[in-house]
Amino acid sequence: MLKRPRRLRQSEAIRSLMRENHLKAEDLIAPLFVMEGKGKREEISSMPDQYRLTLDELSKEVKELWSLGIRCVSLFPAIDECKKDSRASEAVNPNGLNQWAIKEVKATIPEMLVMTDVALDPYSSDGHDGLVDSSSGEILNDQSLDILVEMAILQAKTGSNIIGPSDMMDGRVRAIREGLEKAGMKNTLIMAYTAKYASAFYGPFRDALQSAPKKGDKKTYQMDPANVREALKEARLDEDEGADILMVKPGLPYLDVIAELRRQSDLPIAAYNVSGEYAMVKAAHMRGWLDENKVMLEMLTSFKRAGANMVLTYFAKDAARLLRC
Ligand code: PBG
Repeated sequence: MLKRPRRLRQSEAIRSLMRENHLKAEDLIAPLFVMEGKGKREEISSMPDQYRLTLDELSKEVKELWSLGIRCVSLFPAIDECKKDSRASEAVNPNGLNQWAIKEVKATIPEMLVMTDVALDPYSSDGHDGLVDSSSGEILNDQSLDILVEMAILQAKTGSNIIGPSDMMDGRVRAIREGLEKAGMKNTLIMAYTAKYASAFYGPFRDALQSAPKKGDKKTYQMDPANVREALKEARLDEDEGADILMVKPGLPYLDVIAELRRQSDLPIAAYNVSGEYAMVKAAHMRGWLDENKVMLEMLTSFKRAGANMVLTYFAKDAARLLRC
């Protein structure tokens, strides 16, 4: 035999020399859920070890994440049902929970990057990412842009470093980019949820924020899971409209989309390893069916191999701990 691929696998030293991709704590972005109150963390039933945090608990969490090498958190506020309305007014309240959460992270560790979500669902009594026409039920694209832009500018001015439009309205990246420029926020990054699929893997996230749509589904704005060329079109638009980073979401079932965007774009690519992907691993681990730590690192490495530069993942803290030792 002239060629023996196993020669390159015979010891950990050789394997480490041959390794093509490396996962680092700095690659990971930790999504965090926040809520009103003091001194409390509420576990999310479908996401074991993930909590809705009051601001003081958020501060503790951010210190720990920073010490483990995590350099970016993504904030998601759990808004009280009584504050939700059909216009999602709370989304643009300068005194709202999301704004206080941004300030809390920045006051705790000024260098920690804060990413914030731009979409109406956590604030909307309809549970949709855009405004809903009350008679037809249609999701109103152009009418939603104004409030999305206002949200983005407010978040940026409050201290958010990375705006993440997850709403999938057409033209929102351009509208937000122009709004930020006009507001003088030229250094704020936009991580576009470029290829966000209409996925059943978001279930546990919607439990965490009580944000599931009250009627209908999100298929008229989120993408059809069967499509990949459509993702390339969305990517070209987001690039032209001024996005800095392109994101694919969910992650694991869409590794081919990540690889395709990596080939076609020069922008950094992010993967969102979503709530349902997290819940599956946790559930199997709790039954003794899988080794959680090994599966987690294998999964996160697969995003790097597919071509992602960074991964939003609820495993961020656990993975960072393991990567340190
Ligand atoms: C809001 C939003 C969602 C997620 C991130 N931002 C839910 C949705 O679109 O219904 C899902 C994240 C996850 O499942 O981890 N638009």
